[in-house]
Amino acid sequence: MESPFRPDILKGKVALLTGGGSGIGYEISRQLGKHGAFIAIMGRRKNVLDSAVSSLRSFGISAIGLEGDVRKRDDAVRVLESTIKHLGRLDILVNAAAGNFLVPAEDLSPNGFRTVMDIDSVGTFTMCHEALKYLKKGGPGKGPSSGGLIINISATLHYTATWYQIHVSAAKAAVDSITRSLALEWGTDYDIRVNGIAPGPIEDTAGVSKLVSEVRSNAEEQEPLFKFGEKWDIAMAALYLASDAGKYINGTTMVVDGGLWLSKPRH
Ligand code: HXC
Repeated sequence: MESPFRPDILKGKVALLTGGGSGIGYEISRQLGKHGAFIAIMGRRKNVLDSAVSSLRSFGISAIGLEGDVRKRDDAVRVLESTIKHLGRLDILVNAAAGNFLVPAEDLSPNGFRTVMDIDSVGTFTMCHEALKYLKKGGPGKGPSSGGLIINISATLHYTATWYQIHVSAAKAAVDSITRSLALEWGTDYDIRVNGIAPGPIEDTAGVSKLVSEVRSNAEEQEPLFKFGEKWDIAMAALYLASDAGKYINGTTMVVDGGLWLSKPRH
């Protein structure tokens, strides 16, 4: 689908995306790039990064891939330094790296729980923390949003309770809390906006192939509320937040799920 945004809304900006080599993270990278941003993507798997970078370049986007694991502080520091070295500045950090699997709480080891907390929550904090010094002076330096922007990819799992997702629900609840705390402190001190996006089930993603049952009733599939979203939908939300249209939005997590999390079974 065509973007409704002008192609130059992020002209000259630099964005770093964790988990930017695949899934939702890749599509956000692509759309930020198509709207003028220079893109750095961070991920653990070199082959995934390499193919994502060549794919981004095939769209005319300036992109680099930087290997690293958000669980390692040294990797975070190194990747941020490389971003500055290669692209000169940092305006937008998108935390899209995540880990997930379906498992009943009874069968989940504390280390399995910790692994997802480490990737999603601690990883998000680590990247924000190490990015701060660059984001402080990342923006255009005038007007109402002179600092940089952080977007944390969350979920809606923890708004209620979700079967076999105790680890991810806890991790994304922490992510939302991190979003609010940083929005308060860094919004006040540095004019940095910190927001989240909570996607519903998005087609063609690891999240959906790992988590969503293949057995969906025909009745459900007919209802707008139960439609899968597209990666494009999440990328458009990110563009809105990253553009000047989002300049007064800080500390919120935007739910992009077609209203699904509100639903209950019909009686
Ligand atoms: C039970 C499991 C498990 C499983 C791993 N563990 N997979 N437990 N069921 N399926 C446990 C292991 O037993 C181990 O604990 C601990 O977790 C660490 O496992 P490792 O394999 O060593 O971890 P690692 O190699 O670092 O892999 C991380 C991972 C993996 C999270 C487990 O799945 C991964 O790398 N995923 C990244 C990609 C991904 O999943 N993306 C999807 C995001 S979707 P013990 O005790 O044995 O040592 C998403 C959507 C959310 O986030 C919302 C959607 C609506």
